[in-house]
This record gives sequence, structure tokens and C-alpha cells, in this order.
Amino acid sequence: MRLDRVRGLAGAVGLLGLLSGAGLAAEPPADRASFHITPVEGPSWRSHLNLPFDQSAMGRMGVTSGPLPSRAVNPWGHSALPESLDRPFVLTGADLYRLNCQSCHNVGGSGSPPEIRSLIDPVRATSFEVTKEQLQRRGAELSESAIREMAAQARASLLDRFQNGGERMPSFRHLDSTEVDVLLSYLRGLAALPESPGAPKTVSEPFLRVGEHVVKGTCYICHDSTGPGSDAMATTPQLIPSLASFPEQKSVAAFVRKVKEGAPAPGTLGKTGRMPVFSYLTDEEVTAAYLYLVAYPPRPGGAPGTTSPHP
Ligand code: HEC
Ligand code: HEC
Repeated sequence: MRLDRVRGLAGAVGLLGLLSGAGLAAEPPADRASFHITPVEGPSWRSHLNLPFDQSAMGRMGVTSGPLPSRAVNPWGHSALPESLDRPFVLTGADLYRLNCQSCHNVGGSGSPPEIRSLIDPVRATSFEVTKEQLQRRGAELSESAIREMAAQARASLLDRFQNGGERMPSFRHLDSTEVDVLLSYLRGLAALPESPGAPKTVSEPFLRVGEHVVKGTCYICHDSTGPGSDAMATTPQLIPSLASFPEQKSVAAFVRKVKEGAPAPGTLGKTGRMPVFSYLTDEEVTAAYLYLVAYPPRPGGAPGTTSPHP
């Protein structure tokens, strides 16, 4: 990790708290299952699938209007809880969803069928009550233990999806068990399961981990880890610049503006380029993504299209 550079930048973005290292710790708090921050590696998910920019909704669904989730959504550009780069972030399941899932599955989870299937039904299938009711409606008689077994299997296949991805969905191996637990409790609310959701769960994380979520859950869908930057767009206008090029070629402020408000691609006119505008990310989250790219320089290697597993 290149903390020296992050500390240097911290002064530049006016984050004196970072100089003392608060919120920077790369290791999880003692009461927390382990997580391990790793660099983003290899070609983007779209390069991996060989998906031309215009032919897929992946990474572009974040701000579309869909059916709203049953639980209140945070207003655009706000996380559930106040955040600051000079102390650890407190993330809710809604935040983890926003950073990792929303750009493909949209706010309500409905995705963009048929390419991106809705995640609501697979989450509903993890509920004993829902499964029982569906079976009854179809006139199927099953024992309680058989129904419990079906719901448990649905949960196992959901967890397997995070570990190994789907046919065309990337893996989310960077999520640890605590994050998965917090995310699942949010998904259960989103899918309006009859079982009580319980108190909303949260997880506290250093901002570099938050940056890892933003990059691996969202940016990496379109951007290769390494390769040419936007300076090469003069000769190759269709190029999507690499993640590694951002800290070298963009200031933090220009980076945050591009992501949150949009900016034209170099040498083009207009208000935004082809990249979607991610107005639902906060300034702090986007800054965290930049600092993560500085601290953990992206790597060319790795199996194509997979984020690094825990070592
Ligand atoms: C890069 C886009 C992308 C991201 C990001 C993404 N998904 Fe998916 N997801 C897909 C696609 C495409 C499918 C359908 C094809 C497949 O299963 O691979 C899918 C399918 C699913 C399904 C199964 C739907 C079914 O009917 O079987 C679930 C559940 C799911 N995603 C949950 C999630 C969750 C939770 C997250 C965030 C941690 C997430 N996805 C992030 C693209 C994505
Ligand atoms: C749906 C695909 C897609 C996703 C997802 C995406 N980008 Fe982009 N991005 C592009 C494309 C295409 C370009 C080049 C054209 C343009 O500038 O709009 C680009 C350009 C950029 C640039 C400008 C580079 C420069 O030097 O001018 C930055 C910075 C950037 N992206 C950051 C991000 C970050 C950070 C994320 C994640 C929060 C992200 N992008 C997610 C498609 C995407």
C-alpha cells in the first residue's frame, strides 16, 4: 500500500485528519470478521464479456427510474449516515447496495431484463413464509422441513453468487461475511419479505475499503485496471481510459466532477461524455475511490473479469 502518497494527497484535498491516519487503517476493527483490501486487477467486466459500450445496460442503471424499494431510499448523493474521510465510514446495507449493485440492478433491484435479471425473486426464495405460500398456491403439499430446506438452498445459491458471480455477473469476493450479512438484511427489506427485518445493520470501515467498493462494484464494470489514459483519446476517441491512469492524469476535484456531474471527454463538446453520471455517489465516496487507486495501484494481472479473492 502506498500510504505516503495518500498522506501527501490528503494535505492537497484538505483532509488534515488523514495525516494522523484516522480512518485510514487498512485492517478491520478487532470485533469484525477479517477483510483484506486488494488492488483491482485485469480487464474490465465489459472487456471480459466482450460487450461494446452501447450494447449493454451494465453500469448504466444506477440513476434510471424504476419501481422504488419498499424501504425509504436515501436522497440522491447521500449516504444513509453522515460521512467524513477523517474517521471510519459507517455503511448500511443500502450503502453497500448502492456502491456494489445499483449500477446494474438499479435502485429497486429490478435490473434491466432480460440482460440483467431482477434480484427480487431470488431473494424472496430465501424466505420460509414466501416459499410456503407459493407452494400452497400451486397446490403442492410439502413438509415444513422440506420448505425450510428449499429456503436454505436459495440462500446458499445467493451466497454462492457473491463468491463466484453468475453467468454474466461479476463475483463479489471482495465482500467479507459481515458486509454480506449487512447487505442481505437490506435485500430482504427491498424484497419485502414478511419476516421482520430486525434493526438495520451497519458496518464501520476505513475509507480505503469504501473506495474499493466503489471501484470494484461500479467503475471496474467499464474501466480496465491498466492501460492507456485519456491522453490517448485524441487518437482513439472510443477508448475508455484505465483506472490506473486517473490518479496520474486527473486531479481529485476533476475526478469527482466527472463522476458526480459529468464532464465532456477530452476534445469533445457537450456537458457530459459517454460515461453515465453517478450523482448517487457522495463526494466522500468518490474521493475515497481516488485515494484507493493511489494507495493500491491497479494491476494488469489476475484472472480476466474477476476481482481479487482474499489471499
Ligand atoms: C456488472 C453488472 C452487475 C452487478 C454490478 C451486479 N449484478 Fe447481479 N446480475 C447481473 C446479471 C447480468 C445477472 C443475470 C445473469 C447472471 O446471472 O449472470 C444478475 C443476476 C443477479 C441475481 C439472480 C437473478 C436471477 O433471476 O437468478 C441476483 C440475486 C443478483 N444478480 C444480485 C446482485 C447483487 C446483490 C449485487 C451487488 C452485490 C449484484 N447482483 C451486482 C449483473 C450484475
Ligand atoms: C457504463 C460504463 C462506465 C462506468 C460504469 C464508469 N465509467 Fe468512467 N468512463 C466511461 C467512458 C465511456 C469514458 C470515456 C468517455 C467519457 O469521458 O465520457 C469514461 C471516462 C472516465 C473518466 C475521464 C478520464 C479522463 O482522464 O478524462 C474518469 C475520471 C472516469 N471515467 C471515472 C470513473 C469512475 C470513478 C467510475 C466509477 C464510479 C466510472 N468512471 C464508471 C464509462 C464508464
